[in-house]
Amino acid sequence: MPSILAADFGRLAEGCARAEAAGADQIHVDVMDGVFVPNISFGPDVVKMSVAAVQIPQNVHLMVTQPQNHIKAFAEAGSDTIQIHIESKCDVRETLAAIRALGKRPAITLNPETPVESIFECLENRWVDEVLVMSVHPGFGGQKYLSYVEGKVAVIRRMADWVDIAIDGGIDNTTVERAAACGVNLFVAGSYLFKQDDMKPAVSDLRKTAQDNYCKAV
Ligand code: DX5
Ligand code: ZN
Repeated sequence: MPSILAADFGRLAEGCARAEAAGADQIHVDVMDGVFVPNISFGPDVVKMSVAAVQIPQNVHLMVTQPQNHIKAFAEAGSDTIQIHIESKCDVRETLAAIRALGKRPAITLNPETPVESIFECLENRWVDEVLVMSVHPGFGGQKYLSYVEGKVAVIRRMADWVDIAIDGGIDNTTVERAAACGVNLFVAGSYLFKQDDMKPAVSDLRKTAQDNYCKAV
């Protein structure tokens, strides 16, 4: 899932099309409100733009303090998966249920320092279809992968073989192997993919390494 946070903001539609042509499975859209994280990025209109640019699904990461106020707009914009943070100020159960009621895939995400136990309730009750494990502190692309989150991934994978586990931050051709070994099956990659002259072989290599190493360390 290429993150368009790393694309050229003057040519975002081209960035989405480039990711799709490279063989990406989904587009990852990073939404930041300047409060939950120090940065400000995209709103629902950027999801609309991406929907118009590509056929692949929109994986929308809400780094916002009050996601419950925004899910309708992001659903209507054409999001397929909507990820809310466990650390945000909302009723998590209600907000995930509202995402599902809008016909979208609900996902929960957790910051590097947040204990994995905080999302057990979401898994036990199957409020989510996907968990997004942050492997950097959210807010900016191009940060270093924090390997200490891998333990949380393995715990989630042992608990729930049915859930999609995504990882976000610092994914490249070396870190993808470790993350896959712990049970990750969806990978967000921003700066690594968009800095390539040709994104296609990079996407194929990431996918192959992920498949070859999936769950080896679980
Ligand atoms: C960070 C974002 C990430 C970011 C990843 O707050 O959630 O999706 O775009 O960028 P890279 O792959 O460059 O670490
Ligand atoms: Zn993200």
